[in-house]
Amino acid sequence: MAESMQGLHRTHRCTEVSNQNIGEIVTVMGWVQKRRNLGSLIFVDLRDRSGLFQLVFDENDIGSEGFAKAGELRSEFVIAATGKVEARSGAVNENLATGDIELRVTDLRILSESQTPPFPIEVNSATKEELRLKYRFLDLRRPDIQRNLMIKSKVAMLARNFMAEEGFLEIETPMLTKSTPEGARDYLVPSRIHPGSFYALPQSPQLFKQLLMCSGYDRYFQIARCFRDEDLRADRQPEFTQIDMELSFVDIDDVIDVNERLLAKLFKEICDVEVSLPIQRMSYAEAMDRFGSDKPDLRFGMELTNVSETVKGCGFGVFTGALENGGSVRGLNVKGQGQMPRKKVDALVEFAKGFGAKGLAYMALQPDGSVKSSFAKFMTEEEIQALIQAMDGQPGDLLVFAADKNKVVFDVLGNLRLELAKNLGLLEGNHEFRFVWITEFPLLEYSEEQGRFVAMHHPFTMPMEEDLHLIETDPGAVRAKAYDIVLNGCEIGGGSVRIHQSDVQEQMFKALGFTKEQAHSQFGFLLNAFQYGVPPHAGLAYGLDRLVMLMTGADNIREVIAFPKVKDASCLMTEAPGIVDQKQLDELGIAIVVQEKENTQQ
Ligand code: AMO
Ligand code: AMP
Repeated sequence: MAESMQGLHRTHRCTEVSNQNIGEIVTVMGWVQKRRNLGSLIFVDLRDRSGLFQLVFDENDIGSEGFAKAGELRSEFVIAATGKVEARSGAVNENLATGDIELRVTDLRILSESQTPPFPIEVNSATKEELRLKYRFLDLRRPDIQRNLMIKSKVAMLARNFMAEEGFLEIETPMLTKSTPEGARDYLVPSRIHPGSFYALPQSPQLFKQLLMCSGYDRYFQIARCFRDEDLRADRQPEFTQIDMELSFVDIDDVIDVNERLLAKLFKEICDVEVSLPIQRMSYAEAMDRFGSDKPDLRFGMELTNVSETVKGCGFGVFTGALENGGSVRGLNVKGQGQMPRKKVDALVEFAKGFGAKGLAYMALQPDGSVKSSFAKFMTEEEIQALIQAMDGQPGDLLVFAADKNKVVFDVLGNLRLELAKNLGLLEGNHEFRFVWITEFPLLEYSEEQGRFVAMHHPFTMPMEEDLHLIETDPGAVRAKAYDIVLNGCEIGGGSVRIHQSDVQEQMFKALGFTKEQAHSQFGFLLNAFQYGVPPHAGLAYGLDRLVMLMTGADNIREVIAFPKVKDASCLMTEAPGIVDQKQLDELGIAIVVQEKENTQQ
């Protein structure tokens, strides 16, 4: 019974009609949200991506046939309705953009019918996410997701316009390419013409954008799809989008300047928020020391305190042992939580263990001045008082301590700080956007797994000139000309100044343990290009999805991606990845070796 569009023309989206149009004949089209029969009148809420509009069917206007048809409408039917815009006869709905008007329909067409959807199409649907993702095409009809995707579209458009105005050229780079050096696993694509050879999908356009600088394009940008085969989290997807850029003849400040203006523009236009410029900068070392994280959330305090000096030589072996092993002892003062129930404190200890802590020492300062502690018995009264003082502890506070290698201590306390803020509701009702640039990252970090230093950003990142002399003697101490932009504890973008001198690049490869041959087999084309006149250059890339997630207040990156993957990197709607025909495999020269699932039941 689906009717055609013949002779019909949509004049307005639902909420484009307003009380300015009262008396006019309009045609709207969309989905039936709800139908209510009130005897001689039928009300229908019509929905399109702009919102809702109330239609009224009265037998006197539409005739008995039309009225009967209206009576058959059900949720998610697609209809076209023509009629006269009138002021609402019933109560005005303050919550709706079109709450003071309605359409008295004289012509109704049912363009298509719908089965009963498996869940209601509404804001904040309580539907299980698995079901929503299986029927993503229906889920995408929900107004909150539609809003997110509309905002994302607007962010991309604003960024594009801004970049064009700033003299950036939009240039595409290949999807079928060779491995890029971003450090995650590659997604591989087998080649039919070269059996046994594979393309890699780009983890980022990094090498190509550097080549474009070599080729004189001066300022490049791209809204680029990137692919990384890594473990998914709330802010990570296997394919995601970057706003990617590269600039020639610049140093750090030039990149930061253009990006601060871009961020200010985006947040003004999208969130009506003034970002006060310049954005604060903090060195990596300071961020770790104060917040235990290179993406600190600056919306609340509860900073880490290094008490290594205070507890040196105290009677508690856990503390002194950590110091003897080259580690540190640091604490958090959880203000006013001295009477946190034991169960909750135990939960914090378990949480800390999840991040590699061997334990979490605590001291609960009671309002009467006494101390309940898991380790005070190992210390003298003087040592206890010195520690409380170092932590600025007041009666009623809870002090927690981690003692270990610095990396573990930072990881434990950095995460505990966030967990406590969540548990204690420190950020409830906080609508701030707190930006910070993190700078002076270490150039290299030691990988226990690989038994060598690896690039913290990527192998083309420029060392800070003043540290270059350390690259052979103390590689871990060399800082990089790299920067991340962090918003509310989330890394929304990152970049660096690149190495453009071949001698520095050679030193870098050496520090990474690459032979000349290895470097050339992986990045030969870039190194070659650098032999022919390369301008100094630098760049940055934002995670567009993450940026939009923060702008919209979504708590998961999937809420701002039309067709996302779930935790195991599969798509619940298309059921990708899937098995392919034997014929396809034969053409590619691929044989599948079925691996037996590991028997976990010992
Ligand atoms: P980087 O690897 O830091 O840098 O990536 C830049 C930004 O991309 C976002 N991002 C992700 N978003 C969603 N899912 C993921 N799996 C994911 N991985 C990264 C983050 C991150 O800050 N080529 C360099 C940039 C440069 O040096 O110019 C690069 O890709 O928000
Ligand atoms: P123990 O003597 O091992 O029972 O430890 C005493 C207290 O120290 C307990 O509260 C442990 O959770 C805590 N603890 C153990 N190892 C560490 C560590 N590496 N850092 C901080 N606290 C620890």
